[in-house]
Amino acid sequence: MAGIYIHIPYCKQKCNYCNFFSSASGKTKEAFIDALLKEIALQHTYLKDEEINTIYFGGGTPSLLTKDNLDAIFNQLYKYYTINKDAEITLEANPDDLTKEKIIELKNTPVNRFSMGVQSFFKEDLEYLNRIHSSEQAIEAIKRAQDTGFNNITIDLIYGIPGASDQRWNDNLSIAFDLNIPHISSYCLTIEEGTALHHLINKGKAKPVDEEQGIRQFVILMDRMTENNYIHYEISNFCKDGFISIHNSNYWRQKKYLGLGPSAHSFNSHSRQWNTANITKYISSINNEIIPFESEILSTEQQYNEYILTSLRTIWGINKEYLKHHFNKEYNQHFDENIKQFLLFKTIEENATSYYLTRTGKFIADGIAAELFI
Ligand SMILES: C[S@@+](CC[C@H](N)C(=O)[O-])C[C@H]1O[C@@H](n2cnc3c(N)ncnc32)[C@H](O)[C@@H]1O
Ligand code: SF4
Repeated sequence: MAGIYIHIPYCKQKCNYCNFFSSASGKTKEAFIDALLKEIALQHTYLKDEEINTIYFGGGTPSLLTKDNLDAIFNQLYKYYTINKDAEITLEANPDDLTKEKIIELKNTPVNRFSMGVQSFFKEDLEYLNRIHSSEQAIEAIKRAQDTGFNNITIDLIYGIPGASDQRWNDNLSIAFDLNIPHISSYCLTIEEGTALHHLINKGKAKPVDEEQGIRQFVILMDRMTENNYIHYEISNFCKDGFISIHNSNYWRQKKYLGLGPSAHSFNSHSRQWNTANITKYISSINNEIIPFESEILSTEQQYNEYILTSLRTIWGINKEYLKHHFNKEYNQHFDENIKQFLLFKTIEENATSYYLTRTGKFIADGIAAELFI
């Protein structure tokens, strides 16, 4: 069981808060698609005949791909990999791309799950974030996708946006619930260094974020999700029963994955590798049959810290057997000594198989992980 991630590095315009790798110029797109098709073939031994149970088109904006682009990519994937017939195949889509024609086209591809970047249903927030679409476009895109038979939909919502009151955040969630969306990913706005928003805030041209607003809105998020029967299965991810993101869960459960396209990361249990985050270099190198990547063998210390960080954030928690099986006595002693304080203060609870965050613990997950690190 393994996953494939495909990075599509193009956007119509850059959102001011985003530091994901993408270009607002589509000039190289067709040359990139040719290179991607070659990379799919060149990398086919990386997962060593594992069956693929998830494919994820991320970006950037994968909904900018044409039907021809997608057909060519899928033909190549099915030619070189063993893909499970029930594989979860997700495509990140921006609401302004999802016209009726586009959704019908996508229905005629193997894509069976949409991840829509809604961020907010309110104009003021979309303007603050420099999003290209309107709230109406987002609502129409969701309804159209549902009417066309896409039931497995997730949306991204951002909280902690300067100027967005708690009431507006509550209203955002109510709109999502009314739309019957089975999976919601929700992140607190982070101001990434080097982004346009970082610059604007530093120059006093955009309202700064307020940490307390972020905490309050996370509380609202958790409460409203519970009231509406969503499972809080990872700090930023909520779903109705049966709608867990298999692809993302596989990352958190240390499963293998192959990343294709510029800036994409791959993991095969022992090492991690990442492609160049430069479209021109990516294309020219692949055209010379060389995959432009760097890699590192993960030390035991890195493997342990990564396991703690990712598993702690999930509903499944840190598995006791996994710790015993994968790490030596020294690591286990370190863990046993350091976990005590969190059990005492009830930020972590345990059951027969695992340690997991309590509601209070969810506010300080990264801090707890840092204390448990080697
Ligand atoms: C790869 S990105 C975007 C995918 C798609 N192109 C879009 O714009 O919707 C995935 C998600 O990360 C979240 N995100 C990106 N940058 C963020 C930031 N600085 N703070 C909070 N959330 C962020 C957004 O919710 C975004 O939808
Ligand atoms: S948030 Fe999405 S659309 Fe906006 S720049 Fe980032 S990847 Fe592109």
